[in-house]
Amino acid sequence: MGVVLVGAQWGDEGKGKMTDFLAAQADIVVRYQGGANAGHTIVISGVEHKLNLIPSGILAGKMSVIAHGMMVDPRLLIDELERMEAAGCNASLLRISDAAHLIMPYHKILDVEEERLRGVNSLGTTGRGIGPASRDKAARWGIRVSDLLRPESFVEKVHVQLRRVNPLLEKIYGVDPLDPEAISREYLEYSEHLRPHVCDTILLLNRSMEQGASVLFEGAQGTMLDLDMGTYPYVTSSNPTSGGVCTGTGVPPTRLSQVIGIAKAYTTRVGDGPFPTELQDHTGDLLRQRGNEYGTATGRPRRCGWLDSVVLRHSVRVNGLDGICLTKIDVLSGMEKIKVADSYACNDAVIDEFPLDQGAFADCHPEYIELAGWDEDISRVRRFADLPGAVRNYVRTVGELAGAPVTHLSVGPGREQTLELEPILRLR
Ligand code: IMP
Repeated sequence: MGVVLVGAQWGDEGKGKMTDFLAAQADIVVRYQGGANAGHTIVISGVEHKLNLIPSGILAGKMSVIAHGMMVDPRLLIDELERMEAAGCNASLLRISDAAHLIMPYHKILDVEEERLRGVNSLGTTGRGIGPASRDKAARWGIRVSDLLRPESFVEKVHVQLRRVNPLLEKIYGVDPLDPEAISREYLEYSEHLRPHVCDTILLLNRSMEQGASVLFEGAQGTMLDLDMGTYPYVTSSNPTSGGVCTGTGVPPTRLSQVIGIAKAYTTRVGDGPFPTELQDHTGDLLRQRGNEYGTATGRPRRCGWLDSVVLRHSVRVNGLDGICLTKIDVLSGMEKIKVADSYACNDAVIDEFPLDQGAFADCHPEYIELAGWDEDISRVRRFADLPGAVRNYVRTVGELAGAPVTHLSVGPGREQTLELEPILRLR
């Protein structure tokens, strides 16, 4: 069976932690989109592990698959693999799709230069080359992992790409051209490190599932950063939503059994773009400080605000969420009142669904309901029934407003700080 975990907001919802929690029940953990723009933090026995490319399942000793929907930066991947080995993980569990696209040095340069060109309309990208590499993939210029394993054709492809890209770098962006020989030498060295892990992951996953394997699909980024479903153009260049699993792995929708959304008990966003419930005041600062809201991939401070149930309803709908895992609820402890947006005032109208027109979305102002806060430290509570009444009320209200039950609650960063409210998630 296949269970999908997706971010229900703008990313950084704590997906790595939930993947790690559920990986214990899975045979295989798969990432299906994105690249090193993602950052997943997992705390095990007080030790923090940060992953950008490798699925969090590696920490649970599970086969971990980088599927063809991902964009692979080989240098970063090798560094990460070495870090994981040093932390005691079994590196031989990693599988990399031969059809995954490579991030090339010019993708990262173009990412930065294009942001500069956008000026005040910049997207706030992570600078990891994701947009330019995805564009090359769609334009049929991409270089894939399988190319890296065939040195002659790889070198030729790099030469062809630089005939096209170097004039852009020099004439449009005023930066130095790149040397195809130097890039080829560098990348072919990486190929020897990666070769033992490369295989046809479409076959691997489908055959394993035919034989009864349970597979956990780990989304990166979040629904509102989806190229098609999110706050375009302030989005990433892939499909983090559940549909992305099928195109990004070759596993058909008929093999997927459940989709769980991960949502923070408040909202954060890194990068630019509309964010109706953003708090640019003391409360926003408090959330950032208490929630340690700084990006894993780039270290940037995250924008913080109240939970937005308009966003969650959109997420429930487009992902087909069976349940929601609400994370970091402990961060809200000590707030006298807690607000949740249940609709928007938007150009003289009140709307309670996410508007497709992004111009309208930018003009939306949240309408809030206010709930009682709580003072208790809840980080040691392990049963829902033992939580203060105000916490239980908050959790129930979020589920009702979102239109999907809260099935898991995270009260702290540790593996043991996850409460299972409804045992709907079963990988076995
Ligand atoms: P890109 O994916 O680097 O092209 O960045 C596009 C947008 O997505 C920017 O606003 C980034 O800040 C945001 N973004 C990309 N990856 C993540 C992530 O893992 N968490 C949160 N935001 C992200």
